Amino acid sequence: MAAKGLEGVVVAQSRLSDINGEVGELIYAGYDIDDLARNSTFEEVCYLLWNGELPNQQQLEEFRAQMEPQYVLRPEVLEMIRNYPKDADPMAAVRTAVSALGMFDADADDISPESVRRKAMFLTAQTPSIVAAFDRVRNGKEPLQPKPGLSFAGNFLYMLNGEEANDTRCRTMDVALVLHAEHGMNASTFAARVTAGTLSDVYSAVTSAIGTLKGPSHGGANVEVMNMLREIDESGQDPQEWVQNALSSGKKVMGFGHRVYKATDPRATVLRELADKIMAEAGETRWLDLSDRIRAVMAEEMERKGKKIYPNVDFFSASVYTTLGIGMDLFTAVFAIARMPGWTAHLMEQYVDNRLIRPGSDYIGPRDLKVRPISER
Ligand SMILES: CC(C)(COP(=O)(O)OP(=O)(O)OC[C@H]1O[C@@H](n2cnc3c(N)ncnc32)[C@H](O)[C@@H]1OP(=O)(O)O)[C@@H](O)C(=O)NCCC(=O)NCCS
Repeated sequence: MAAKGLEGVVVAQSRLSDINGEVGELIYAGYDIDDLARNSTFEEVCYLLWNGELPNQQQLEEFRAQMEPQYVLRPEVLEMIRNYPKDADPMAAVRTAVSALGMFDADADDISPESVRRKAMFLTAQTPSIVAAFDRVRNGKEPLQPKPGLSFAGNFLYMLNGEEANDTRCRTMDVALVLHAEHGMNASTFAARVTAGTLSDVYSAVTSAIGTLKGPSHGGANVEVMNMLREIDESGQDPQEWVQNALSSGKKVMGFGHRVYKATDPRATVLRELADKIMAEAGETRWLDLSDRIRAVMAEEMERKGKKIYPNVDFFSASVYTTLGIGMDLFTAVFAIARMPGWTAHLMEQYVDNRLIRPGSDYIGPRDLKVRPISER
């Protein structure tokens, strides 16, 4: 019997993350996501995923010093980005630029552990610069050089928006990145591992992952959440009525439910708290107020129907990103920035214990047909 969508099929052993959907738990390399989100940074999480342990102060400083110069895009890639169509899908822009980076790397095909680690850091450092440069160019602005001394998250916001973000905003961006850095054998990670399984190079594997994340069933849910919030806001309709109408016409309410989590998505809890802070500070609580109304109606409705449907991480990331000045069509590209350490950590695992990934299929077509001359068909 075919396992459609490979649901329930275990394809690898991994030390990177584990999800217990029944209790709403996510761990990265042994650490609870809530603990990591509150007490570490994105750079520390990159280090954890690539090394299996959190860095001490000195290791972190060395790590940051190694990474910072790699934020700078090479002129050929910047020139390419300037020539992209202004209306290109940002995910197509990231996918194409990442793929191009491979052609400029003389060691692209080296899949030794040291080389894969070097590329993991390089690609993680380059992706935010690609996204920011593309967004600025398409808006008629000059791409910015990275600013030394800023955190990974702070530098991305600076390169995107052209001004340094305050601590709350940098911290919020940082936590959003931490929350999305790794999530088990999701579709894009699997795609990366399938490509690496053929002993193809890191750039090709990551390009596969970006192409897979681009699909609306994977990376695009928070865009749908923002569309929903805007639709309700613009219609002036009561959120309770809107949700009840959506449910009675059989629609799914975006930002709720998850294939794996059948309890609260632990990432949503942390992001909700940060959303509160950042929006209060921005003096714009419209999206959060609306989200809270929707959440309350959904809680009531789902309890009444006996369904275990709770808000997921996308429900809050939509309004958080909007408040951070990130355009709606960049949401999935921000997801790609955050997931780069997870993808590349999986590649490290795949290359050191590789086996070509080659599932089978049940043939259900005809047999024993004979080719007739073309004039008789
Ligand atoms: C993510 C998703 C595809 C998971 O789907 P799933 O695994 O098939 O969901 P479940 O089997 O747990 O659904 C159980 C029931 O809850 C309903 N349900 C699930 N998500 C719902 C939602 N967002 N709004 C309303 N009802 C929902 C299902 O229709 C199903 O109802 P039924 O038993 O009457 O058929 C689904 O929840 C969804 O489409 N959510 C909205 C999009 C979204 O936010 N995606 C981001 C995920 S990170």
